Amino acid sequence: MNSIFVPTFKKGSSSLSFRLLHNFRTMGTITAKAIVYPGYGEPEDVLETHSYEIPSPEALKNDEVLVKTLACPLNPSDINQIQGVYPSRPPISQTSLPGLTKPVAVCGNEGVFRVLGTGPGVTSLKPGDWCIPSKVNYGTWRSHAISAEAEFLRIPNDIPLKQAATMAVNTSSAYLMLTQFEKLQKGDWFIQNGGNSQVGRCAIQIAKSLGINSISIVRDRPELQKLIDELTALGATHVITEKQNTSKEFGKTIKGWTAGRPIKLGLNCVGGPNVAGMSRKLGKNAKLVTYGGMSMKPVMLPTSLFIFKNLTAVGFWITEMTKKDPELREKVINKVLELIKENALADINCTLNKVEPEKLTDLEFTDAFKQALCDSKSNGKQLITFE
Ligand SMILES: NC(=O)c1ccc[n+]([C@@H]2O[C@H](COP(=O)([O-])OP(=O)(O)OC[C@H]3O[C@@H](n4cnc5c(N)ncnc54)[C@H](OP(=O)(O)O)[C@@H]3O)[C@@H](O)[C@H]2O)c1
Repeated sequence: MNSIFVPTFKKGSSSLSFRLLHNFRTMGTITAKAIVYPGYGEPEDVLETHSYEIPSPEALKNDEVLVKTLACPLNPSDINQIQGVYPSRPPISQTSLPGLTKPVAVCGNEGVFRVLGTGPGVTSLKPGDWCIPSKVNYGTWRSHAISAEAEFLRIPNDIPLKQAATMAVNTSSAYLMLTQFEKLQKGDWFIQNGGNSQVGRCAIQIAKSLGINSISIVRDRPELQKLIDELTALGATHVITEKQNTSKEFGKTIKGWTAGRPIKLGLNCVGGPNVAGMSRKLGKNAKLVTYGGMSMKPVMLPTSLFIFKNLTAVGFWITEMTKKDPELREKVINKVLELIKENALADINCTLNKVEPEKLTDLEFTDAFKQALCDSKSNGKQLITFE
């Protein structure tokens, strides 16, 4: 019997540890489900469910940790991994899950787990703790997992679930892009497109907490003012449309806002003519950081900006940055946790899709993810939750 379930039980409380112990005693083993793909392609064609038995916590080896997934987001890069067009991908292998009859990869790069049990040698995690994958490409679209302790990073278990599930990619990216490329001071300005993306929303809020002003470009829509009000409430200094972004006339309005202060940093996740218009608003010696290509168009930049304004255009990829400097991943996670604690980050704007694996067939489990992926195309960020 693994003793870790018992010590945290307090008499008279409905302690989580007690409930976990009880659940395991009554359930025996758990049937876990994972969304996998045996080859690259469009998600609707290649995704399938692999079901497998998770042993009871008593059977965990020395450094093993058994976790239950609480929530995992469906990010654009997850889709690119499934399509086989994202440079960093989990291997399609036969060994990543028990009971496989063919090589597969498990989908999902980020998410938050709750610890259900630990092997006797585990020191950094105990049942009831929350954790996130310590490295990229963990394969988070699954109900349960067992991995070595080093595969997980403990986080507080009293922060909003949506924040916890998305902090490792989007929030961390926004923080890194605002702090690693330009030494922005209080009162400085940055401009970004994709202002309504999760990264964009995080950048608005992080900038505000650092005293940095923002101009966010968003796509026009029927209820534009509602979105502008929402982003302004998050701390956006100004929100403009793509049409205003490409208008020469509107450039003067922006100069008025910044009172002649140069805009030092541009964050681009769209490309095409949008990024050309945005870059024209940058000051001399500014940096343009490209981190996404949502319009599927190339990054178009006027030649004059390089010659007369000494523009520097660079790329950002959190995977590479944190791979090169693993300590940075932990540092930025801690920074993001501080911001969450200070209430500097509003809860994430996304839809929760509750999935109960034990009540679903494999086909239904796969369909739940496919439906959420489909919704993410037109209804914003989707998260799968498992309770
Ligand atoms: N390089 C990195 O390390 C890194 C890290 C994190 C994210 N990313 C990338 O950052 C981007 C945003 O990610 P996210 O998770 O924050 O996205 P998200 O929340 O799913 O939002 C996507 C955004 O893209 C906008 N969009 C979609 N198609 C567009 C188009 N044709 N023209 C202009 N805007 C368009 C949407 O605008 P509406 O609001 O109008 O629908 C929405 O705001 C993605 O490309 C992602 O891969 C990169």
